[in-house]
Amino acid sequence: MKKILITGGAGFIGSHVVRLFVNKYPEKDIYNLDKLTYCGNLENLSDVERAHNYHFLKADIADATHILSLFEEYRFDGVIHLAAESHVDRSIVNPMEFIRTNIIGTVNLLSAARHIWQDDFSGKRFYHISTDEVYGSLGEVGAFSESTPYAPHSPYSASKASSDHFARVFHDTYHLPVVISNCSNNYGPNQFPEKLIPLFINNIKHNKPLPVYGQGVNVRDWLYVEDHADAIDTIFHRGKNGDTYNIGGNNEWKNIDLIHQLIRIMDRKLGREDGQSLKLVTFVTDRAGHDLRYAIDASKLRDELGWSPKIKFIEGFEKTVDWYLQNGAWLEHVTSGAYQEYYTKMYANR
Ligand code: NAD
Ligand code: DAU
Repeated sequence: MKKILITGGAGFIGSHVVRLFVNKYPEKDIYNLDKLTYCGNLENLSDVERAHNYHFLKADIADATHILSLFEEYRFDGVIHLAAESHVDRSIVNPMEFIRTNIIGTVNLLSAARHIWQDDFSGKRFYHISTDEVYGSLGEVGAFSESTPYAPHSPYSASKASSDHFARVFHDTYHLPVVISNCSNNYGPNQFPEKLIPLFINNIKHNKPLPVYGQGVNVRDWLYVEDHADAIDTIFHRGKNGDTYNIGGNNEWKNIDLIHQLIRIMDRKLGREDGQSLKLVTFVTDRAGHDLRYAIDASKLRDELGWSPKIKFIEGFEKTVDWYLQNGAWLEHVTSGAYQEYYTKMYANR
């Protein structure tokens, strides 16, 4: 594959995938296609933007005509599709944008790939990136495997579930060389500070309340974003057409325990007294349809493709906090303007 299209490359995970591919595969042309929504930020890629093999295409994946014309012009050999509306809370307020981008946008990309590849699929690949949230919620025990039935509980996860079904259908019906992965919660540099970890880092830094939904008992499995990018590289090159791979960190945390750990690290790094920022913890109204627990059984990826996470949680967590503290300008740029209005509205009545 000479020309690789990465959608959503200006976002959190996409920017790490673009960086990995641009640096690791200098002989390939890497095309980053992104609409640059509120969380798409080309600053995330400033270190690779001048690389000879990096190209940026500004486009909306929901615009079928534009997407088809780009596929016809550039004739990509491989697609790694990450572009999405990705925040559960926003999906509860405005589901339609999630249907537009996550479902219609995905079908547009699948259709455009099918059109230009004209049923000659040798050496081609369409990789659809998805989430563990499509599987719904777990009780105290167990883990999601690739055969767990889909049971989404938010407009976000319902839209991702729908896009997964379409990706699978394009493989089963048209034999498009599709591969899918479903990953757990990512953390690391460049995540938009509406998500738990960067939001709480920013709030602790500014001595603002930390809005913990419900009792903080929900459990998430956290994976360092560079590990996810590495898994994507593995699956893109060695995954089996028509297959799904679960990706996880084997690293479950109850929200409140994770928050206490974050407070300890932040207080130390900010030179505050140990536990000083605990007083910022504020229990607020729970998220509607809040999934209790996610956990991933990633044994298929380990056994078939030999992949497992490399970065230990405490190392990744410290690196993450350091990155946000050292990149205050990045945080200020992305939290000004429209984001301020969103923040005020989202947390006003909680
Ligand atoms: P993000 O919100 O940080 O980035 C999404 C990117 O998509 C942004 O650059 C945005 O500008 C772009 N985009 C949005 N709508 C678009 C459109 N209509 N056309 C073109 N570009 C558009 O998201 P993320 O957290 O990096 O997630 C990336 C992908 O990984 C998503 O598909 C998400 O469902 C999936 N995922 C995320 C996580 C996680 O923990 N963040 C975990 C598992 C899977
Ligand atoms: O599991 C993968 C998913 O992880 C991805 O598909 C999503 O794109 C990504 O946003 C993430 O979804 P979550 O809803 O798990 O992430 P979020 O950071 O929004 O919330 C993590 C947990 O923290 C969740 O239980 C809700 C809680 N939370 C979140 C926020 C923003 C709070 O208690 N307070 C908050 O202010």
